[in-house]
Parts: sequence; C-alpha cells; structure tokens
Amino acid sequence: MNEKLHTFIIDALVSDGYVVVENAIEAKLITRLINSIDDTSFKEAGISGGSDLHIDVQRRSDKTLWLDEDSAEQSEYLKFCEELRERLNRELYLGLSYYEAHFAIYEEGGFYEKHLDAFRGSKNRVVTTVLYLNEEWSESDGGELVIYDIDDNEIQKVVPNGGTLVVFLSDKFPHEVLPAKSKRHSIAGWYRVDR
Ligand code: OGA
Ligand code: MN
Repeated sequence: MNEKLHTFIIDALVSDGYVVVENAIEAKLITRLINSIDDTSFKEAGISGGSDLHIDVQRRSDKTLWLDEDSAEQSEYLKFCEELRERLNRELYLGLSYYEAHFAIYEEGGFYEKHLDAFRGSKNRVVTTVLYLNEEWSESDGGELVIYDIDDNEIQKVVPNGGTLVVFLSDKFPHEVLPAKSKRHSIAGWYRVDR
C-alpha cells in the first residue's frame, strides 16, 4: 500500500538527499496518533541525554516521548517506517539496523536551533524522518522547519501541517525549528546503523 510513496521517497533521497511530502500519512491516522498521547508523560528533551544536558536545554525547548510499539496507532506508523527501512537497505544498501522515533511537543515559543542530527562520518543516525501531527496550523503559527544545505544556504521552509513527512540524510542537512506560536506536535525518527 505504501509502495509508491516509498519509491517516491527513495528516488528523491537519491537525487536530492531530502524530500518533503505533504499528506504522506492519511488524516485518520494523524488524528489517532495525536489522540494516543498524554502530554503529561513527556520529558524535557536532553534530560535523559546525560552529559550534554546543559547545552541541549539552551538549544532546544521541546519535550519528547518515545513511541510505544504496544499502541496500535503508533505501531502502524512504525510499520510504515520499518517498510521504508527495508526498502532503503535493499535498494540503497544503507545497512540500517534499526529505527527509533519520539513524539515532540513544542509549547508556545518553543524552538530548536540550527543543528545536524549526525556528524559527518559518525555512524549512528543516517536518515532522519519528521512527521507533523498538527491538524490545524496556519502560517501565522510559525514553527517552520528550515532546511539548509551543507554550506548553510536555506533550501526550504516547511510548514508543520499534519500529515507532512520530511525525510533527509542526517549528516548533510543542517535544520532548525523556528519559534512556534501555538503548541506544535511532531514525530522525529532516525534510521541508525549502530545496533
Ligand atoms: C529534531 C528536529 C525538526 C522538527 O528533533 O532533531 O530537528 O521539525 N526536529 O520537529
Ligand atoms: Mn534535528
């Protein structure tokens, strides 16, 4: 069922290294995903990360919660990502060994400064995914994802509309989240090679 979409994503990764797909995930699943979480169980990003806690808290202000395979809707999205992992390995020989994903909430004023998800040559996070869960978002709500190329030229601003999926090579695209003016929900995930 997702075969065509996965083909589209893989082709774009080969030619451009990144892709933004609007309405990639059907609205019904987006609603179920957003309803499956309890905001109070989220943790400040970085707090569980150990030594870089102080740096992280200044650079980002989101709260996160790992996805739970025991939740029907969360496992449905994880299955979509798992199928993509298999295709990436089969067709691009990326050797991705697993996928991890967390929900992220940015409260009003929340942001994430420009960063790379992986450092060049470091073999951990290889491909990044971000899925947005905001059912009603207008441009005046801010919170755009800004994607840059490796020379820091802006490539694209992405409005975090529910159902939009962004996929990019983790070590090639610096990106940032501009301050959100409304509560912003997403699922960020990473294909890794180190486990
Ligand atoms: C991240 C990230 C982008 C977004 O969690 O590393 O860059 O748009 N998220 O939520
Ligand atoms: Mn990131």
